[in-house]
Amino acid sequence: MTKQINDRIIIHDIGEMNEYVSALRRNGNSIGLVPTMGALHEGHLSLVRRAAAESDAVIVSIFVNPIQFDDPADLTAYPRTLDTDAEQAFGAGACVVFAPNAEQMYPDGFSTFVDMTGISEILCGASRKSHFRGVLTVVAKLFGIGLPDFAYFGEKDAQQLILVQKMVYDLCLNVRIIGCPTVREEDGLAMSSRNSRLSGEERIAARSLYDALTEAKNSFVSGEKDTEVLRDTILDIIGSEPLARIEYAEIVDPRNLKTPEYAREGDLLMLAVHFGATRLIDNLRL
Ligand code: PAJ
Repeated sequence: MTKQINDRIIIHDIGEMNEYVSALRRNGNSIGLVPTMGALHEGHLSLVRRAAAESDAVIVSIFVNPIQFDDPADLTAYPRTLDTDAEQAFGAGACVVFAPNAEQMYPDGFSTFVDMTGISEILCGASRKSHFRGVLTVVAKLFGIGLPDFAYFGEKDAQQLILVQKMVYDLCLNVRIIGCPTVREEDGLAMSSRNSRLSGEERIAARSLYDALTEAKNSFVSGEKDTEVLRDTILDIIGSEPLARIEYAEIVDPRNLKTPEYAREGDLLMLAVHFGATRLIDNLRL
């Protein structure tokens, strides 16, 4: 049973957060952390609810992390809706929302980064060179500030989840990473703050992502194991949408993100697809 701390406060300052977290720990509370960039939707809130079910105190961080964006226009366009986000986070069981500003997180002279080689440089890391360096650096900082027992990440961002797990292992961080299932719209599109940027036509075309993933999974379940054939199934379905531009579609082993010749249960179908200026990612586990 959790004790369910329910303070409902927003903290902007790192020093204040340190004091708050120290008090929580002194009083023997377990801490769950849900890192986000805000613009919260049901996907984020499912993580907060899971954290609230498993920890005494739930910290939701809301920080649009500038160092993980390699496109300045994408950073500027990112929605910032702190007040409604905080209300939603509290409603789902958070006791504190930590919302620092960029000057606090990256003061003048900041020069320490978490740089993972290998699996951070493929798939989403191939086109977005410093993206995962930015993600892992901010997540490591948030672990240092929130001192969580558990930290919750969505399977929607599968590569991010795998990399965070690897960072925790490589750096011996004392936190348990919990992966949570992808929450989808009724037609299967994975919820994302980027979905609202799609035009009406693009939104309809974006259904092809989940259609392609499920079709490939059905084919696997029916006996097709050849990863090239499974990949072609995905490419054909999404490729028939004139508005879609495929960045990558791969079948990978989640342990090393490499593509095996034959797919096995547990492998991930992963894809990134552009609709106009909007980039969507999705994945499905076989
Ligand atoms: P953000 O995109 O805001 O996502 C925050 C968390 O919510 C991530 O763990 C993400 O995987 C999860 N999430 C997003 N959409 C989801 C969905 N439809 N179903 C389930 N979970 C979903 O990911 C980030 O922020 C940042 O990179 C961050 C980790 C906060 C570092 O800045």
